[in-house]
Amino acid sequence: MATLNPSDLVDADWSPEDAAVDAAVDDAEPMQTDSETLTPAPEDVKEIEAAVQSLDLGTKGKVKEVPPVEEPEPEEDNEENKKRHLNVVFIGHVDAGKSTTGGQILFLSGQVDDRTIQKYEKEAKDKSRESWYMAYIMDTNEEERVKGKTVEVGRAHFETENTRFTILDAPGHKSYVPNMISGASQADIGVLVISARKGEFETGYEKGGQTREHVLLAKTLGVSKLVVVINKMDDPTVNWDKSRYDEIESKMAPFLKTSGYNVKKDVHFLPLSGLVGSNIKDRLDKKICSWWDGPCLFEVLDKIEVPLRDPKGPVRMPIIDKYKDMGTIVMGKIESGTIKKGDSLLVMPNKANVKVISIYCDEKEVRQAGPAENVRVKLSGIEEEDVLSGFVLSSISNPVAAVSEFHAQLQILELLDNAIFTAGYNAVLHIHSVVEECEIVELIEEIDTKRRKDDDPKKKKPKRKPLFVKNGAVVVCRVQVNNLICIENFSDFPQLGRFTLRTEGKTVAVGKVVKLPNPGNSIF
Ligand code: GTP
Ligand code: MG
Repeated sequence: MATLNPSDLVDADWSPEDAAVDAAVDDAEPMQTDSETLTPAPEDVKEIEAAVQSLDLGTKGKVKEVPPVEEPEPEEDNEENKKRHLNVVFIGHVDAGKSTTGGQILFLSGQVDDRTIQKYEKEAKDKSRESWYMAYIMDTNEEERVKGKTVEVGRAHFETENTRFTILDAPGHKSYVPNMISGASQADIGVLVISARKGEFETGYEKGGQTREHVLLAKTLGVSKLVVVINKMDDPTVNWDKSRYDEIESKMAPFLKTSGYNVKKDVHFLPLSGLVGSNIKDRLDKKICSWWDGPCLFEVLDKIEVPLRDPKGPVRMPIIDKYKDMGTIVMGKIESGTIKKGDSLLVMPNKANVKVISIYCDEKEVRQAGPAENVRVKLSGIEEEDVLSGFVLSSISNPVAAVSEFHAQLQILELLDNAIFTAGYNAVLHIHSVVEECEIVELIEEIDTKRRKDDDPKKKKPKRKPLFVKNGAVVVCRVQVNNLICIENFSDFPQLGRFTLRTEGKTVAVGKVVKLPNPGNSIF
């Protein structure tokens, strides 16, 4: 297999030299995604296709807010607001325990009372899904509860000593990958949930499960740190067995490395039981698990460091959702700059001048919000109908680029039926909150990933435009879309410059934007 090294997507300069073959790459098996046994209902498939096609990925209904029990305080500059804020997406194969762990976190942080849990226990029992009651905290839709599968990304909030967290509980089922992408594109940290139950780790990882695709997507979409929780350690087939934990860790580590994560610096492993609630808020009881001396999940999350974004930089907020509420409200995560009440900004690409009327952060009104905050911003000067998800709220003096073509460096992962990749290839482009049909119109250069740094540069073959490339290739190409999209060079704003290409529901390539048309132009 050729180099699979999306780590280069995080380094500002992704030179071919840097994509040198890593020994661990050879250990990684190609990503497989087609042997999932669970077949989604036809109406589900239709819904997903419709969402992808109609640019509707992040619009209302795809993210569901899980309401806290207590009413939020209507306040601004209190102690809580001084805590940093981070978005954490829960990812992993279907049924790994993402919603159960998310629900347990809310329960342990006092946001769900015993009476509600009892109610869910009864409801889960009535639906013959006894063990799903904790997941019901996050899975609030009837469809999700009946099927025991998350469909829409669930959003909830909790706090540790130093950090306010927004949990984004992504669906694991492969039909809902577009929703997972929408969740991951908003997150800084990922909690990768893996089931240790006999056979379940294997289906998730080895036999074409979603574990690998989720990891690759998370990395590409800007999730810089991963906490890998090895879940269901309480299960009778595991019973807190150290050798099972070690087996999973030793298989995951090389794969995470080839996916671009620095396992020592960016990844943290820990054993857990989401259902019982062990090793989440408090450290593990030695009576339950004698061999684990490490921290619990809350400690790890509280101490995690994420790369800082520039609060003084130009404003960039990709819009994931919008609605009307006595004005136009847009939702999204601020990727750069600070938005203040009263600011004049631009909604791109339609160059609409708008004014910030108010800003809400986790239900609270605030005077300003900076990078990495998830906010809702009320705007004047634009009608709700004139905003689409994928548009970007941007500063006037330094607006985001609006283009219909760009140059990208692509890493081809796995083409359908081992097809070849040539000019004329069509796919669906996912870049921040944008979902657009695109066409590869020109292959510019294939990058030789095997060439080593110490190779004689004179021996380098002259550049030649390739006619086609195959699985595993790294290629620079020109990409076109029909509508204007707001993107940036990866080297300037990584969050707005990295993307995935999907075909027929499968991720076929990951890439980054390397060149844009001259400022003011939408084409080269
Ligand atoms: P999707 O949303 O469909 O991707 O699944 P999920 O990852 O959210 O899994 P969910 O939380 O719905 O749990 C799936 C099943 O695994 C349920 O029956 C849970 O009770 C069970 N489960 C989750 N965590 C644990 C755990 O720590 N121990 C045990 N024994 N079972 C668990
Ligand atoms: Mg779930």
